[in-house]
Amino acid sequence: MQVVKFLKLHLKLNSLRKLSFTFFLIISLLLFFSCKKDLVIFDDNTTRIAFGSCGSQNNDLPIFNVITDHNPDLFIFLGDNIYGDTEDMNVLRSKYNQLGSKASYKNMKKNVPIIATWDDHDYGWNDAGKYYKFKEESKEIFLDFFEEPLNSERRNHLGIYHSEIYSINNKKLQIILLDNRTFRSNLKSYNGEVDDDNRYNYSLDYGIINNPDSTLLGEQQWIWLEKELQKTSDIRLICSGTQFGIEYNGYEAWANFPYEQQKLLNLIKSTNANGVMFLTGDVHYAELSKLNEENLYPIYDFTSSGLSSTWDFSTPNSNRIKGPIMENQFGLLTINWEENNPEIIMEVWDVNNTLRFKHSILLSEISF
Ligand SMILES: [Fe+2]
Repeated sequence: MQVVKFLKLHLKLNSLRKLSFTFFLIISLLLFFSCKKDLVIFDDNTTRIAFGSCGSQNNDLPIFNVITDHNPDLFIFLGDNIYGDTEDMNVLRSKYNQLGSKASYKNMKKNVPIIATWDDHDYGWNDAGKYYKFKEESKEIFLDFFEEPLNSERRNHLGIYHSEIYSINNKKLQIILLDNRTFRSNLKSYNGEVDDDNRYNYSLDYGIINNPDSTLLGEQQWIWLEKELQKTSDIRLICSGTQFGIEYNGYEAWANFPYEQQKLLNLIKSTNANGVMFLTGDVHYAELSKLNEENLYPIYDFTSSGLSSTWDFSTPNSNRIKGPIMENQFGLLTINWEENNPEIIMEVWDVNNTLRFKHSILLSEISF
């Protein structure tokens, strides 16, 4: 009898031990995944945000060391963060891991908080939209890799769109990460639309979709975005994998969906959202575009693409005011909050740590 009692007690203690171990593990995991956001701290009068896109996990990516040396407050991945291009989720995960184990990436991760959105190649397939079959699995892999907190609302809706508002003294900075893949309608093949314009001396892939039912962001993301733009903030960085403020060029951009592009411009007007500018990627070069729209302040689209990828030429873009920079580079946005009218400085630095262009504006220029 004593032996049975002893065994029962032993079993009880064992399961208690197992239970407390599991409890400890869950709490540790929750703490690990939920404390990441707190790393992003903008704690003085100058905020410095680095960003870039289009880096292959097969390259060494020394650009991450250059970024780390600049000691920014934050790095934003704008998509094509890896070249996944697969329907095999084990392959996709291993390609993220390849990026994660890179010395230059580890160095940046150790020193600089990182947030991210995606574009086609890391979403899963070249130029893919809403019909990519593995978008939900790919989303989980993406969020896990970038250590999105387990309690993040980003894990509870379709797609990876997300927004944060950071306080810097008495000012607010909103960072909006768009998802231009999960909901995007099919593209339309190019059909000779600009054949008689000799600026387009290359082969174009896509035409302009003049159909208001074709969407880039999808209904739910539009509803969410309107609410975000209604929130109070001094400066808003809208981060989009593909370029917003450029001229149509026959490749992927918001210009393929003119109804969607106009809808966003109208939304900025109707919500009276001050301080909007775009950070974009995708094209394998850097440039600064300035889009002029009636009854709206100028919309700047600051593109940095080419963490390791390069391209032979830049496409026609009558909105371009700086660039193109064809070598590997990253974008650096500095906000000097000190004055009543903060200064916003846009710089592109290349992989040799050379400043390639610089453009400054005052917040009043992008305010109603
Ligand atoms: Fe892309």
